[in-house]
Amino acid sequence: MNQALSLKDAMGRRFRYLRLSVTDRCNYRCNYCLPNGYQGDDTAEPAMTLDEIETLVSAFAAMGTRKIRLTGGEPATRKDLTRIIEVCKRTPGIEEVVLTTNGYNLSKKAAEWKAAGLDGINVSLDSLDRDRFKDITGHDHLPRVLDGLEQARAVGFTRLKINAVLLRQFNWDQFDHFLNFVRKQAVAVRFIELMQTGDNAVFFRENSVLGSQMEEKLQLQGWQEVPKTPLDGPAREFRHPDFAGKIGLIMPYSKDFCRNCNRLRVASNGNLHLCLFADQGHSLRKALSAGETVSVIRQTRLLLESKAAGHTLEQGFTGATSSLAMLGG
Ligand code: 5AD
Ligand code: SF4
Repeated sequence: MNQALSLKDAMGRRFRYLRLSVTDRCNYRCNYCLPNGYQGDDTAEPAMTLDEIETLVSAFAAMGTRKIRLTGGEPATRKDLTRIIEVCKRTPGIEEVVLTTNGYNLSKKAAEWKAAGLDGINVSLDSLDRDRFKDITGHDHLPRVLDGLEQARAVGFTRLKINAVLLRQFNWDQFDHFLNFVRKQAVAVRFIELMQTGDNAVFFRENSVLGSQMEEKLQLQGWQEVPKTPLDGPAREFRHPDFAGKIGLIMPYSKDFCRNCNRLRVASNGNLHLCLFADQGHSLRKALSAGETVSVIRQTRLLLESKAAGHTLEQGFTGATSSLAMLGG
């Protein structure tokens, strides 16, 4: 790839990583995201079709995108998810295709997704205690999701991560459960700071746990930070000699979080979001539906010139993001 062709913003950040939401629909009701469940809206723009996704992915690959994360909502609520994985994976230039899922049908689908070329899976799993899992997600699915993780490993996935959003009133007291989980298992658990979105202001006030508190706990127990390489994204990684797995911290409220930004986001309706908390998305839909790769490239380049240096989340500005179900984190 010619360097001049690759996507770069005014601050010199390069974007080889696309987070692509394939649906805003979700079958869970996580209390920090969709506490009342998905409220289907007939007036909302439908999700991109498989063809539109193909156009989008070829355009981004031509601009230097190497890695795609499929997110949602819950991506697996789309019947054609396996086809989407295949299309992404066979696009020249795309090296890695990974998925974030709540894991509800992982045990059933793991083998199919592996065969389609999926390289890794992040499972959102906020508690290892069955009752708490149910309190948070609205579903008594902990055994099912754990079984899904087992299946994923059994069919050959080695890149398995667990995402846990830490919540003061629901799982902060269970921090050590996650550490115990990675003692023997070579998985990575990533603790995520709860982010304020348009819809969760009160919940946020009552439940936010700062990453610095998570870090303090890790350090007290002998976990050490692994130095970053220039290609790493904003997550910080920690290791401990007595544990098989790793711990990561995703701390969007920390200073400098945005400096390592290496990603762009496209919502399921085909809107390009320059930042998770940008004021607005920019629709690429017309070009996508016409299959005009060149136009997608031209628009994206132009829009990137206006990408801001960082978000203003710490001042309570949540931008256009009402819940992360619309954009997939
Ligand atoms: N703050 C932090 N993480 C969130 N997620 C969803 N909503 C929020 C929020 N408000 C997480 C999900 C999933 C990832 C894509 O984003 O739990 O793991
Ligand atoms: Fe669904 Fe993920 Fe939101 Fe939970 S956090 S409601 S699994 S989109």
